[in-house]
Amino acid sequence: MTDKPLMRVLGGEPVWPPPVWLMRQAGRYLPEYRALRESSGGFLARCMTPELATEITLQPVRRFGMDAAILFSDILVLPWALGQDLRFVDGEGPQMTPLRDNTALAKLDLARAPAETEPVMETVRRVRAALPADCTLLGFAGSPFTVACYMVEGGGSRDFAATRTAAYADPAFFGRLIDLLVDATIEYLAAQVEAGADAVMLFDTWAGVLPPSQFFIHVVGPTARIVAELHRRFPGLKIIGFPRLAGTFAADYVAQTGVQCIGFDTSVDAARLAATLPPNIAVQGNLDPMVLIAGGATLAEESRRIRDALRGRPHIFNLGHGILPQTPPAHVAELLTTLRQVS
Ligand code: CP3
Repeated sequence: MTDKPLMRVLGGEPVWPPPVWLMRQAGRYLPEYRALRESSGGFLARCMTPELATEITLQPVRRFGMDAAILFSDILVLPWALGQDLRFVDGEGPQMTPLRDNTALAKLDLARAPAETEPVMETVRRVRAALPADCTLLGFAGSPFTVACYMVEGGGSRDFAATRTAAYADPAFFGRLIDLLVDATIEYLAAQVEAGADAVMLFDTWAGVLPPSQFFIHVVGPTARIVAELHRRFPGLKIIGFPRLAGTFAADYVAQTGVQCIGFDTSVDAARLAATLPPNIAVQGNLDPMVLIAGGATLAEESRRIRDALRGRPHIFNLGHGILPQTPPAHVAELLTTLRQVS
C-alpha cells in the first residue's frame, strides 16, 4: 500500500488527475539552479557533491509541487565511475576519450564503481529524508546501449555512426561492453534502491537509432537482464523504461523486458500506442518540450488532450523528452495548474 499517487500508477492503477513530473526538471531553466551553478564548479562536481545535488533535486519539487523528484545526476556518471574520463564542456555537452577496443575496455573496473558512486547514494538518502510523504523519489541510470553510444563515440553525436559501426564490425567487443554495463547498472540501481529510491528509470535516448534485429540484441536483451535481476533482489520494484524513438516496438519492449511503465517520446500518439499494451502497464509522457516553451492556449489544449486521451489507464504525465533551458518557469507552473484542474 502507498499513498504516493505516482507509485499507485506504477502499480497499475489509473489515478485522476494523473501525477506529473518532467524529465530534466532540475536544470538551467530554473533561476535558482543557475544561481547555484555560478558558485559551484563544474556539472560533474555538482552531481558528486551530496549537499548540492540534494538541493538541486529538491528545487523543482519545492517550486512546482511535482509528484516526483528525480535524482540530480547524469547517465554518464556510471562510465566515469568505471574509469572512463568525462568532461562537460559548456555549450558542447559531454566529452570522453572514445572507447573503441578491448584494450580500452579492459581498463574499466567494475569493482571501483560502488566507492566512486557513494556520493550519489548519499544524495538519495538526503533527498529521501527531505521529501514530502506523497512525493515519489526516482533513481535512474542510462540503458547499456545509450551509455555505450556515448562511451564509444566519445560524446554526443547526430547519428552515433562510430558506435553502430563498431556493433556490426566487432560484435564481440561491443557485446562485452554491453555486458559490463549490464552488470554495473544492476549494482548501481540496486544501491539507489537500498539508499531510498522508490522506483527507478532506465533512459534509452538512442534506442531508436537501431534497426529491429539490433534493437532486440542491444536494447531489449540487456534491459530484460537488468529488470530480471533487480526484480529478483527487490520483488515488486517498479521500473520505468524509456526506449526513445522505438514506438513501433513498445508492446514487444514491455512484454520482453518486464518493465512496469514505458515512457513515450513525442513521435507517438500516446493513447493509441497505450491501447496495444496490457491494461496494468503504466505509460509516461509525452508533451512536446517545445509546447512548454510556447505556452499559452496551445500548452493548455495540448496538455489536456494528452491527459484526457489517457484517462482510465495508468498514466504519468511528462514531456516526450527533457525540458529545454529556454523554458519559462511560469509555463511549467501553468502546466501543473492546468493538469490538476478537473471538472
Ligand atoms: O531529469 C533530471 O532533472 C535529472 C537529471 C538528469 C540529467 N541528465 C542532468 C543534466 C538526467 C536524468 C539526465 C539524463 C541524461 N544525460 C540523458 C538521457 C535523457 C536525455 O536527455 O536524452 C543523456 C543522453 C545524458 C547525457 C548528457 N548530459 C548530455 C548529452 C548533456 C549535455 C546536454 C545539455 O543539456 O547540456 C548532459 C548535461 C546535463 N545533464 C545537464 C543536466 C542538468 C546540463 C549541464 C549543466 O547544467 O551544467
